[in-house]
Amino acid sequence: NRSLVTIAEHSKEKILYMIEMAKQFEAHPNRTLLEGKVVATLFFEPSTRTRLSFETAANRLGARVIGFSDPKATSSSKGETLKDTIKMVSNYADIIVMRHYLEGAARYASEVTTVPIVNAGDGANQHPSQTMLDLYSIYKTQGTLENLNIFLVGDLKYGRTVHSLLMAMRHFNPTFHFIAPDELKMPEEYKIYCRSHGIKYVEHTDFSEEIIADADILYMTRVQRERFTDLMEYERVKNVYILRNKMLEHTRPNLRILHPLPRVNEIAYDVDDNPKAYYFQQAQNGLYAREAILCDVLGITLDDVKE
Ligand code: CP
Repeated sequence: NRSLVTIAEHSKEKILYMIEMAKQFEAHPNRTLLEGKVVATLFFEPSTRTRLSFETAANRLGARVIGFSDPKATSSSKGETLKDTIKMVSNYADIIVMRHYLEGAARYASEVTTVPIVNAGDGANQHPSQTMLDLYSIYKTQGTLENLNIFLVGDLKYGRTVHSLLMAMRHFNPTFHFIAPDELKMPEEYKIYCRSHGIKYVEHTDFSEEIIADADILYMTRVQRERFTDLMEYERVKNVYILRNKMLEHTRPNLRILHPLPRVNEIAYDVDDNPKAYYFQQAQNGLYAREAILCDVLGITLDDVKE
């Protein structure tokens, strides 16, 4: 089926095609392309942006939405398996958007149903719809995805958004800078992925004005408290890097600051008014990227969405 489980399955052509589709939806967000369809949003983990933007996207396309955001209020709290839940919801919905705390849950769900599954985040693994909106945001702000210096900052161990982003960027000759404390470094499997796909990367533990001087994209991330088994360790690293306005004075004019949000403390509030701050527009781009995803998994093409 046409599930979106990982962005690694998208070719360069497919990514550029999805960006073109998102552009169409930004120009004309309110459409009737999904009239008569039902979109289920199953959120086994908390969310603000992903769930609400998928639901808004479905509503703007004329679909109806069912789902839950509190798994304790569902039969999974009585012991129903994920497999049974997915098989049940498949009888009601045309698309299932699912966030789950287990890595691989979206892949598993896609194997037990013929209804398209959209992975809205599976543990520390992948967040492909976030990546589509990140790519769209990078494309809009830089005019290209090619040959960029992309700095990933913060929790590179548990941050699923950075894992997905680096896989998607393999087509575009990026240079990555991984800025993380030792406890939160990019996992070895992703560094192996970079090496086997010819992706250049440099690792740093310092986060300073000098280090980010030639950045095109500064991608800040939250330290993912919910993934720590030892909360004392979280307390030690939680405020490891904080971006402040002063650090941006000598950065490139085209630099844009992205953050998947929510932020906790890693971007000072005074940065919000800096023209290089782009994280709220980035979240808005999520609506258009997700309209494109909902259409694509149902086989609606770019030609169908062009007005
Ligand atoms: N970026 C993101 O996934 O945000 P939410 O957790 O609020 O959905």
